[in-house]
Amino acid sequence: MSYQVTVEPTGEMIEVDDGQTILDAALRQGVWLPFACGHGTCGTCKVQVLSGFADVGNASSFALMDVERDEGKVLACCCKPESDMTIEADVDVDADFLGYPVEDYRATVAAIETLSPTIRGIAFKLDRPMRFQAGQYINLHIPGVEGTRAFSIANPPSCADPSCADPSCADPSCADKVLLHVRKVAGGAATGWLHEQLQVGDVLDLSGPYGQFFVRKSDSQDVIFIAGGSGLSSPEAMILDLLETGDGRQIYLFQGARNLAELYHRERFESLAAQHTNFHYIPALNDVLPEDAWQGFSGFVHEAVIQHFNHRCSGHKAYLCGPPPMIDAAVTALMQSRLFERDIHMERFVTAA
Ligand code: FES
Repeated sequence: MSYQVTVEPTGEMIEVDDGQTILDAALRQGVWLPFACGHGTCGTCKVQVLSGFADVGNASSFALMDVERDEGKVLACCCKPESDMTIEADVDVDADFLGYPVEDYRATVAAIETLSPTIRGIAFKLDRPMRFQAGQYINLHIPGVEGTRAFSIANPPSCADPSCADPSCADPSCADKVLLHVRKVAGGAATGWLHEQLQVGDVLDLSGPYGQFFVRKSDSQDVIFIAGGSGLSSPEAMILDLLETGDGRQIYLFQGARNLAELYHRERFESLAAQHTNFHYIPALNDVLPEDAWQGFSGFVHEAVIQHFNHRCSGHKAYLCGPPPMIDAAVTALMQSRLFERDIHMERFVTAA
């Protein structure tokens, strides 16, 4: 059984299966609805019910207050229709959003690489190509772990060889390839399993693409990327995509890490900076070890941004990905350096334990 949900003011229609949430059905049918957490805690996906009945699901009282429930509001990520419905949503879609539908994939582990003492690179070969925008993420099912874990895709969506069907191919430019950077979280069941149990040849389920973190290509402002830890993954995909497509803007990558061993892919970005005059790479270490013999910037990554631009970031777009404290410090630094909030895009890298 399924129900028809009409989304106003656009009039778009969604078929929602019995037991399926409105958000899941919308994303799988290429209909944009705003969302963030996907599980009833942030309130981003709040919509107004104009007609029909639904099970409102597990919405937290913070995300959906009692007075809002009384007014007929629901969270699209929790709400399961029990009749045909009409809802009203804020469907103000970013002009650069391509809206590729979410689909389910079987993913075979093609390669595993140690990137740093705490971060693993995992290359999956999908059962078919996935269309996504550089910077988006997938939800991964991990055996024995309830729910899914979100990981940003670290490769660009380009396809150098569309005919490649070699399941062991580790070429990151294949369209049916998804590369992830997974940081091991102490005591975390999901990342612990991915670090200790996952083997080449294992097959997992994932869905995607999700997210609104992508480069706005319709403007011409120079771009600042600020990345911390394994939050490098989506900026890496976005930078490779920009350089591959010959984007002429000035592109700056500020990569933060604790020490030299954690500063992975440094050689790759130094090489890209040598090849592309519009790409600039500034690594920053905030806990340098004596053996690092570090001659680069010492301090937090947002401090490197301030020093580099001398408190003047206006005229740029900024894309931030990393742990929440890094994001908060970087946003403050950018705004104090004359960048408007509307020019700052971010992916809070809430740890996938
Ligand atoms: Fe966060 Fe629905 S997306 S509450």
